[in-house]
Amino acid sequence: MRIRFALVIFFVALAACSSARQPSITLVAPESLATSEFADPVLRQGQIDYNTHCGHCHGYNGEGQIGEILQTARQQGMRPVPPHNADGNTWRYADQLLVRLIKEGVSNPLDQFPMPGYAGVLTDEQIMGILAYIKLWWTDEQRAYQAQVTANLQAVWDALGVENITPSASAP
Ligand code: HEC
Repeated sequence: MRIRFALVIFFVALAACSSARQPSITLVAPESLATSEFADPVLRQGQIDYNTHCGHCHGYNGEGQIGEILQTARQQGMRPVPPHNADGNTWRYADQLLVRLIKEGVSNPLDQFPMPGYAGVLTDEQIMGILAYIKLWWTDEQRAYQAQVTANLQAVWDALGVENITPSASAP
């Protein structure tokens, strides 16, 4: 009985401690998210892979770090995780560079939650599927712009004989 009481006190104290020190994080198990209605198997797999590997940092709707966690990052003078939706900047970059970044990760001391690399975790096809899914959050103009910079970079690389590290870009 005494031990049980001591245990209860211990867990109450532990809960009080952790809630005082850490921002509350709501973790969502990917399995509990609504399954995709996409008929396109690339988008369906892209959504599953995004929700499994990226959503907990970049937001399950590409909204980036939000709420209390965003405030905490800023208060501590750190960079939050950027959004991928139309409010973000992901659409400004060519596919070839996005794929490379996703494979290599980003080691930036300014980031509160540094991004790991996914080479060896995700295939090129899976990464392109994730990008196809992310592109659904962009406006038509952003999609057109991003397709253009992807083509521009490819033309330069072709002229220089740079080996393409991505499979052909697929727009949704
Ligand atoms: C641990 C958190 C974390 C996870 C998990 C994560 N990222 Fe990131 N990601 C970041 C951070 C932080 C940055 C900003 C890096 C920088 O510029 O310093 C970033 C940047 C990016 C960028 C650069 C473009 C932009 O808009 O800034 C892309 C693309 C990206 N992530 C895609 C992904 C994908 C796809 C996944 C899943 C396969 C993923 N990330 C998983 C934290 C994460």
